[in-house]
Amino acid sequence: MAVRKYHPVLVILHWLVAILISLQLAGGYFTVAKMANSDPAKLSVLQLHMIGGMLILVLMVIRFIVRLRTDHPEPTESQKTGIGRLRTPLHLGFYVLILCTVAAGWYTGYLISGAYATPGATLPADLAQFPSRIIHAWLALALFLLIVLHILAAIKETMSGDVHILDRVGFGKRKD
Ligand code: HEM
Repeated sequence: MAVRKYHPVLVILHWLVAILISLQLAGGYFTVAKMANSDPAKLSVLQLHMIGGMLILVLMVIRFIVRLRTDHPEPTESQKTGIGRLRTPLHLGFYVLILCTVAAGWYTGYLISGAYATPGATLPADLAQFPSRIIHAWLALALFLLIVLHILAAIKETMSGDVHILDRVGFGKRKD
C-alpha cells in the first residue's frame, strides 16, 4: 500500500518545530543578542531562550524515533534525479544542525551558569569571548539558510505540478 502522508504525530511535530525554531531564531537575533549583558532582565530572557532550545531538541529526538518507526512517502520523480537527490541529506542535515546548535548553546549556557547560581550576579561583559558562542551563532545562521532552502524546494515542487508536496505534511487518509 502506497503511503501518501507522514504519520499524524510527525505532521504535528513538523509544524510545531517549524514554529518553535522560527521563534527561537527571531528571539535569538532580535531580543537576546540585542540586550546588554549588564541588563539584569537579560538573565530571564536568555533562560527562556535556553529552555526553548532544549524543548526543540527533545521534540526533534521524538520526531526522529517516530520517523524510524513509521512508513513515510516515497521521493517524488523530481526528488530521484539531479539536485532533487539532495532531499535526504538535507533532511538529515536538519537533525545534525539542530543537535550541534543546541550543543554549542548548551555549552555556552554552562560557561555562564555562574550568573544564575549567584544572586545579584550579571552575565560576563562579552559572551563572544567564548568560542562556543561564536559557533552557536554560525550554526544558527546555517540553520536559517537550510530552512530557506527547504521552503524554496517545497515551492519548486509545488509549482512543478503533479504532486501536492504540502499534502504530505497535512492530515487525512494516509494510504491508498
Ligand atoms: C535550535 C535551537 C536554537 C537556536 C535556533 C538558537 C538561536 C540563537 C540565535 C539566532 C542567537 C543570536 C546569535 C547572534 O547573535 O548572531 C543565539 C544566542 C544564544 N543562544 Fe541560542 N539557539 C538555540 C538553542 C540554544 C540553547 C539550547 C542554548 C543554551 C542551553 C542557547 C544559548 C544561547 C546563548 C548563551 C546565546 C548568546 C546570547 C548573547 O550573546 O547575547 N541557545 N541563539
